[in-house]
Amino acid sequence: MINRTLLATLTLIALPLAAHAQEAADAVAPEATTETAFAGTSPAVQAALDAKQSGQAIIAQDWMVAAANPLAVEAGARVLEAGGSAADAMVAVQAVLGLVEPQSSGIGGGAFLVWYDAESETVTTLDGRETAPLAATPRLFQDEAGEPLQFFDAVVGGRSVGTPGTPALMEEAHRRWGTANWGSLFDDAIALAEDGFSVSPRLASLIARDAERLSRFETTAAYFLPGGEPLAEGAMLQNPEYAQTLRAMAREGARAIYEGPIAEAIVDTVRNAPGNPGVLSLDDLDLYAVKERDAVCVPYRGHDVCGMGPPSSGALTVGQILGMLDNFDLGALGPDDPESWRLIGDASRLAFADRGRYMADSDFVPVPVTGLVDPDYLAERAAQLETDAALTDVAPGEPTFDHALLWADDEALELPSTSHISIVDAAGNALSMTTTIENAFGSRLMARGFLLNNELTDFSFRTHRDGVPIANRVEPGKRPRSSMAPTIVMRDGAPVLVIGSPGGSRIIGYVAKSIIAHIDWGMNVQEAVAMPHLVNRFGTYDLEDGTDATGLAEPLAVMGFETNLRDLNSGLHAIAIGDGLEGGADPRREGIALGQ
Ligand code: DON
Repeated sequence: MINRTLLATLTLIALPLAAHAQEAADAVAPEATTETAFAGTSPAVQAALDAKQSGQAIIAQDWMVAAANPLAVEAGARVLEAGGSAADAMVAVQAVLGLVEPQSSGIGGGAFLVWYDAESETVTTLDGRETAPLAATPRLFQDEAGEPLQFFDAVVGGRSVGTPGTPALMEEAHRRWGTANWGSLFDDAIALAEDGFSVSPRLASLIARDAERLSRFETTAAYFLPGGEPLAEGAMLQNPEYAQTLRAMAREGARAIYEGPIAEAIVDTVRNAPGNPGVLSLDDLDLYAVKERDAVCVPYRGHDVCGMGPPSSGALTVGQILGMLDNFDLGALGPDDPESWRLIGDASRLAFADRGRYMADSDFVPVPVTGLVDPDYLAERAAQLETDAALTDVAPGEPTFDHALLWADDEALELPSTSHISIVDAAGNALSMTTTIENAFGSRLMARGFLLNNELTDFSFRTHRDGVPIANRVEPGKRPRSSMAPTIVMRDGAPVLVIGSPGGSRIIGYVAKSIIAHIDWGMNVQEAVAMPHLVNRFGTYDLEDGTDATGLAEPLAVMGFETNLRDLNSGLHAIAIGDGLEGGADPRREGIALGQ
């Protein structure tokens, strides 16, 4: 067990927070009632919650873990404290997250992982994305007339469930980089599932908000709505079926999920989902494989920003935004100048135009990866920003490529759930993993104690536009395009920042902006993740309601932007690596950073 007193003592507090970041923390208080939810917890967790609440970063020397729930972070901290690697800690964190934050991620979902290996000094990316069943057709999300289904008609039920990738990714990361005994990494999650845990405010509020959909399936309703009532904040919840599933995984490895009784239960649940059955089969589960992909690294102000390439659009789009902005001095402008946000907003719109047209699973469609982040191409795109007003016409560019780029623009809707885990271990390895079941509570189907994803709705529901195919259309065995952007920023070949977030396609904006806040505006990681959000993807500038960002609405409108005030639910978790480690957790969510 971790030495909690030592951890509490060593979990020191960093620099004071900038005023605007504090206001952001205050403004999102309804989502951030963690002081009450986790009261009575260990001194280290309490110190971390207090630090986050008062806007201060966590400082440590040897290792650090930041994730979306204190119980999950504690499980990871125990592994790291005992000398485990970042990959070991991730397995423990993910196993607990699947229990205490089941609406966001779990073994019924998928994830992308970016790994910096201290020994070989290399960055590796692993793709544990869900995969379309072999029986899926491009018209999976269309009605008889070929019209796209309504989003939630597609999401809820078996149709949207892809082959989960997270169990295989956990195992593959451990196989490559783990040092701890695999089975022991599930101990905390099993104990919590058997003994019970306190339902967090965020989980309780999301259950209440989604009660009607959750009530449609017997098993899901029995778990989240016992006696027909949504679980209340603070209720003690046990999940013996999940404990049994984890015991099987601890004993047999990920195969326990991909074949045998658990696989059969998944397939049975998907194929017999009342009203909206899916086509997932035992063969799909049996064939699932994690794929190692080339990391996408883009230069930015003397750093290399490295992340997950296709099927994620994360690193390419973050890289395009930063690559265009590298041509402008944001540091001199600062975060309060509307001009900074004109540049960031329109660079983002230009990048999203390319994303919509070109980015998809590169095993199925040729994606011009190199061309999209070529500095010359990005400088050419950035020339459009040399004006003083919002762009009136934003269209995809023509990156250099040796294939015809005959794709129509995509449409795909992405809505809340998802979680991000950042870890640095005592050996200097760094892990950045964004993990998801897509929508909150995924497909709403539950098998053997865990929720099944709805990741297939990240595909375009339409296959063509004006007769031109859409790159991100459904195809059997294909992985839906993602926006997840687990990132490791490198400088002189060493990692300096580990970061990522949930937030659907706004993930890209949250991550890009936090990197700018840290690198250009000198904010520490807590300030950077707490800073008010301004995100522009498709023209409308989303400004985080209740924060200082709203003060930019008028100047941005004068420049010609349409603005919209709204909640922006990121869940950024970041670790900066310098002389020591500095951790930040998003005040909009329930997570913390712990270190020693
Ligand atoms: O892979 C993706 O991009 C989405 N399925 C992620 C969903 C998400 O982040 C929802 N967030 N709040």
